[in-house]
Amino acid sequence: MLNTFIFVVLPYVALALLIFVTPYRYLTNRLTWSAYSTQFLERKALFWGINPWHYGIIPILAAHVVGVVAPGTVKGFLANQDTLIILESLGLGLGLFALFGCLVLLPRRVNSPLLKRVTFASDYILLILLTLQTATGIYIATFMRWGSQWYLHTAVPYLWSLAAMSPRVDYMADFPMVLKLHAAGAFLIVALLPFTKLVHLLFLPIGFIKEPPILYRWRAKHMP
Ligand code: HEM
Repeated sequence: MLNTFIFVVLPYVALALLIFVTPYRYLTNRLTWSAYSTQFLERKALFWGINPWHYGIIPILAAHVVGVVAPGTVKGFLANQDTLIILESLGLGLGLFALFGCLVLLPRRVNSPLLKRVTFASDYILLILLTLQTATGIYIATFMRWGSQWYLHTAVPYLWSLAAMSPRVDYMADFPMVLKLHAAGAFLIVALLPFTKLVHLLFLPIGFIKEPPILYRWRAKHMP
């Protein structure tokens, strides 16, 4: 029951929301189609949060994707023990770097009265979810060795079975709960993407330049 919910219901609901809500938001609420900046309210903690987060998580997500699209090539790479250890260590370092970023960004919003005023429930939910997602990933990488290898023989065929509309839950059913939570977290993040500022992920960096500017209106007493 739980397995069916996590590995069948959640991913398809997430995909449906992504496909239908994203264009709706793009067409009806264009000015919110971005990670609106809080840089002019607070920039010191932002620097120490946003940089580790992005430099850590982007290569990790890219590695997740490369495993899915080119499992054979990755398998060849990881067959060499030295390469396996180097890549896993690199992944762990990047994961910890990303987690550090989350742990700066979350209190940044909680502790600043000025930022609190421009922080929505969706911002908190997203930040907490990303922190948990990163933490469960680090746990898996540390205590369920060697994830980069068994991922190719379990999660990857499962994800392909999802894409083929014929989900093979058996690939994932016997994993410990922490991996199920990690997968559920990933689907939840995809489901929330069109409702939160994570929607900016759909832009290539160049897209930001072409986008219309975001309009801020502040009353004088709110100005920093
Ligand atoms: C929003 C999507 C996701 C995010 C942000 C994410 C994030 C992470 C992070 C930060 C790590 C730690 C990397 C390290 O320290 O080496 C990790 C590891 C891992 N993730 Fe994910 N993940 C996502 C989706 C998924 C999905 C859908 C699966 C499979 C169903 C998955 C399976 C794994 C596995 C097996 C590891 C361990 C890799 C290793 O041991 O090197 N992840 N993830």
